[in-house]
Amino acid sequence: MEQRKILLREDEMPRQWYNILADIKMNPPLGPDGNPVTPDQLAPVFPMNLIEQEVSSQRWIDIPEPVMDVLKIWRPSPMVRARNLEKALGTPARIYFKNESLSPPGSHKPNTAVPQAYYNKVFGIKKLVTETGAGQWGSALAFACAQFGLECKIFMVRVSFDQKPYRKSMMATWGGNCVASPSQETRAGRAALERDPNTPGSLGIAISEAIEEAVSDASGQTRYSLGSVLNHVMLHQTIIGLEAKKQMEKVGEYPDIIIGCASGGSNFAGLAFPFVYDKIHGKQIEIYPVEPAGCPTLTKAPFVYDHGDTAKYTPLLPMYSLGHAFVPPPIHSGGLRYHGMAPTVSQLVNEGILTPKAVKQKEAFEAGILLARTEGIIPAPETNHALAIVVAEALKAKEEGKEKVILFNWSGHGLLDLTAYEKYLSGGIMDIELSDKEIEEAEKIFANHPKPQILKSR
Ligand SMILES: Cc1ncc(COP(=O)(O)O)c(C=O)c1O
Repeated sequence: MEQRKILLREDEMPRQWYNILADIKMNPPLGPDGNPVTPDQLAPVFPMNLIEQEVSSQRWIDIPEPVMDVLKIWRPSPMVRARNLEKALGTPARIYFKNESLSPPGSHKPNTAVPQAYYNKVFGIKKLVTETGAGQWGSALAFACAQFGLECKIFMVRVSFDQKPYRKSMMATWGGNCVASPSQETRAGRAALERDPNTPGSLGIAISEAIEEAVSDASGQTRYSLGSVLNHVMLHQTIIGLEAKKQMEKVGEYPDIIIGCASGGSNFAGLAFPFVYDKIHGKQIEIYPVEPAGCPTLTKAPFVYDHGDTAKYTPLLPMYSLGHAFVPPPIHSGGLRYHGMAPTVSQLVNEGILTPKAVKQKEAFEAGILLARTEGIIPAPETNHALAIVVAEALKAKEEGKEKVILFNWSGHGLLDLTAYEKYLSGGIMDIELSDKEIEEAEKIFANHPKPQILKSR
């Protein structure tokens, strides 16, 4: 009998994360004085144990036992052969996905929320503050804080706050306090509302609000937590790809193509980085991060030094960016509305190791509906972007008569995104694409920023 789900036992879970910083060259983040940021400068924002991980170039990092215990609530996640999709498309490709939608909040986000809450707890921190786009990250951190007895405050991007009221209820159920961003609670929020009282908000603004609240707590027991972009977040997510490698081995397969949607880059990196290691060491694999055409960071923006947030509280990061002041259009995948990209993913795109792709909203929903009707899970609108490329690659394999092995990340379910599905099904979703003029306008902000060096890792 052919296997549909490829499962690992709990005792087969990876015991270490893979750190790609051991294998690639990176431009350093820069502080306000133009010099590389020191760990001490980051200390008011993050606990020192996470800062050490952020800058570590050790290839393998142990996963602490208390973190393993919480991850086991839903991990190891199944790898599934998408047979119904293969049949529906009539493709000779064999399609597999990691199902990250089975975690309590419904996405890959708790893979890093849990270790981040743990390291903060160990460091003596009492409260974490963060931002959230679609609400997946905010609910993941609220869940993780409940596991380790921490307080949690979340600034949620206004447009998603209005589109997804039940995400807020979910965060409240786990004890999290979620407010709409921009808010009147911070200087950064008030400034954004002054610029545009009807702003849909952006991740850049919400990050500024969260950092400001975290660093202004006089007790010193509050820190900020970020759900994507940073090196330690990518590190924690590699458990996805490390499990996938073992699962592929179990059925004697190895992927020709790897696909994940990308906003800050974390679910994509989580699946892809352990395979990027193989690619750097000579394996032939096509690896595609997929972004929305409405916020085309990797496919249209320049590789620059830019801030991770609108109020410029973060260091300058070497990344593809549409500009820290850019407010992306209110597309229906709130988790993909970020102006920048993880420096590690950016570096690998810059070197040509990864090949980014952009997908329009309607094409993404069309693929999401096909997957819901074949494989059964209703995907998060973010995941739909990856699915559109999965379908395109499977059809290409059919046209070429090639038996490709495709592996993708099902980053989350869409059960709290049904307003967006309703809109799509009633014909109300429009394709939004940025014009070159809008991008040129956004790029003016980099005029005085330093330029990252062009580095080659292999
Ligand atoms: C389900 C889901 N997938 C993907 C993403 C994109 O984030 P990242 O690129 O960090 O994986 C999000 C972000 O909120 C999300 O909720």
